[in-house]
Order: sequence, then structure tokens, then C-alpha cells
Amino acid sequence: MDILKAFDEYESTALLAIEAATSAEQLEQVRIEFLGQKKGKLRDLQSLIGKASKEEKPAVGKRFNEVRTSVADRLEAQAASVTCEAVDLEPSFDVTLPGTVPQLGTLHPVTKTIMRFRELMGRFGFEVVEGPELEDERHNFEALNIPNDHPARDPLDNFYIATAKSTSGGPVLLRSQTSTVQIRTMENQPPPIRIVSLGRVYRPDTIDRTHSCMFHQMEGLMVDRNVTMAQLKTLLTLFAHSFLGPDVKIRFRPSFFPFTEPSVEVDMKWGDSWMEIGGAGMVDPNVFRAVGYDPEEVTGFAFGLGIERFCMKHFEVDDIRRFYENDVRFLNQL
Ligand code: DAH
Repeated sequence: MDILKAFDEYESTALLAIEAATSAEQLEQVRIEFLGQKKGKLRDLQSLIGKASKEEKPAVGKRFNEVRTSVADRLEAQAASVTCEAVDLEPSFDVTLPGTVPQLGTLHPVTKTIMRFRELMGRFGFEVVEGPELEDERHNFEALNIPNDHPARDPLDNFYIATAKSTSGGPVLLRSQTSTVQIRTMENQPPPIRIVSLGRVYRPDTIDRTHSCMFHQMEGLMVDRNVTMAQLKTLLTLFAHSFLGPDVKIRFRPSFFPFTEPSVEVDMKWGDSWMEIGGAGMVDPNVFRAVGYDPEEVTGFAFGLGIERFCMKHFEVDDIRRFYENDVRFLNQL
């Protein structure tokens, strides 16, 4: 039968052409020629089926399908081997040569200090919490008993964000202290509380050896029945000794903060002189009222320490600006 002959011929030429194709492009040409839907030879074959007589038709149809599958299968197999061969299996470099060791960075000294602070305070039973760096005036000032006319609220002493508003429509600023987290924590849970929060704070200070417009603080807050100033002093002394060694001297000076009463400033001896490392005190009853705690029921202490100051002492760095200049020659030494 002529039709079946045409099928055989189609099959053998197609298989030969596939065999001869050695690249993906050549193979694609073969595919178009033999299996293409628009003008391929397969279409011509298909039209032959219609010419077969009624008796021939089943055999012709069956053979057509066989031929089509065999060509398509062979094409697929060849495609796999052609792409495999295209991959250059010869390595382009000498694998026996010693490799180049990548330069690994180290943790920043401030990061190391923060990690150590967290660990030490964890051992004292303090949980670490986080707070946002963008704040509203309630959390940065009002609930902390800092009245509207207080100099700390002067727009020139804070980074107010001119283009943003808080959810209640009020002004927004980069927090100037981590004391904000005291309020956020007490708003969200009842006493007792024993937390620390470590993070960045921002102030438009004149930058010098000991001041930066961005630095880090560790805020601490403990609220319970019968929390005392003696516990605060013990904790801060133990903390400083754990971090810097038993020889470091700590002193407490009477001071004033709107959110603590009484308040102290904490100093650490640096060489022959004293350096301020933070503030602390007993939580002011007005702060408890602002978060819905009963000042007759609970007492608490709070503290805020400058992390860079400890970091400078620990690594014997005498200029805070070194921490932010990203000079690898400096960072590599710590
Ligand atoms: N927030 C104060 C500051 O940045 C530091 C401070 C003082 C924090 C007394 C406290 C505190 O929690 O009780 O200057």
C-alpha cells in the first residue's frame, strides 16, 4: 500500500535527520521540518489518511500514530543528549590548587556589647523586649511625666519627622531615649515586670569624642511589690562588675528625671576621672498612673545606660566616632 510506504519513508528519513543533528538549533530545524504543526511533513502524512479506503483506514491510522510517536520520542532523546554534550565537563580551573579564603567580617563591637548585656541581664532574670525607633509624644514624653514645657521636648533637641503623623494624628519623632519601652511594656501587661530593652536613640547633639547623634541605650525596668532603691544599686553594681571586672568603680549621684523619684546619675571611673554612664531611679507614681497601674500597690526601679560608654571602656576606645566610621583597620583590632 502506497500510503504505508510513505509513512515508512517519513519515519526513516526523520530518524536519520534526528541522528545527524548535533546541536539544539539543528534539532529544532528537524523538529519543524518533520513534526511542525503548520507546514511539517507530518501534516502531509495526515492528509493521506483521508485518501485511504474504508478497509485500509484502521491500519493506516494505527501506523500514523506509531510513526508520529517514534519520531517524537527519538527527537526528545536526542535533545537530552545534545544539551548534555553542550555542558563543558572539563573544569576551567585547576581543582587541585588551594582555594582563596574569603575575608570574613566580625561582629561590630557595639553588637558584641549588646549581646553580652542581654546575656548578663538574662542571668539576672530580665527578659529582653523591643520597641520602635519612631515614636509618638505619649511614649517619648507624656506618659513619662515630661510636661509640654519641659526643655527635653524642644523641637531643636529632637528629630521630629515633619512628613509623618502618629496613628492618633500627633507628631512623630525618632525616640530620644529607650524609656519609651517602659511605657509600651506596662501598657501591655500587668505587673510584675522585669525587662530590659536595648536599641538606638537619636539626639541632635554636637558630635564629639563622647557624643554622637545616634547611640545605643539599655533600658531596664523592674516593677513589683516592695522593689527598692537598694536592689537597684546592687543590680547596677553587679552588672558593671560582671561586664568590666570587679575593680571598676561605680558611683551614684542624686539627680533629677521626670519619670523617677528619687533619681540618680550613675558614673563609672575612667582612669582618674568619672564618666557618666546613665540615669536611674524609682519609678515616679505619675508614670504608673499613666499606664493604669496603682502606685499604692506597686513600686519599681528603672535605669537607662549608654551602651557605647561601656563598649569604649571595655575595648579601650577613647573616641565614640570610631564606632560609626566603618574603618576596617579600626574594627579589625577589636
Ligand atoms: N532616659 C534617660 C536619658 O536618656 C536615662 C534614664 C534615666 C533612664 C533614669 C531611666 C531612668 O530609666 O530611670 O537620659
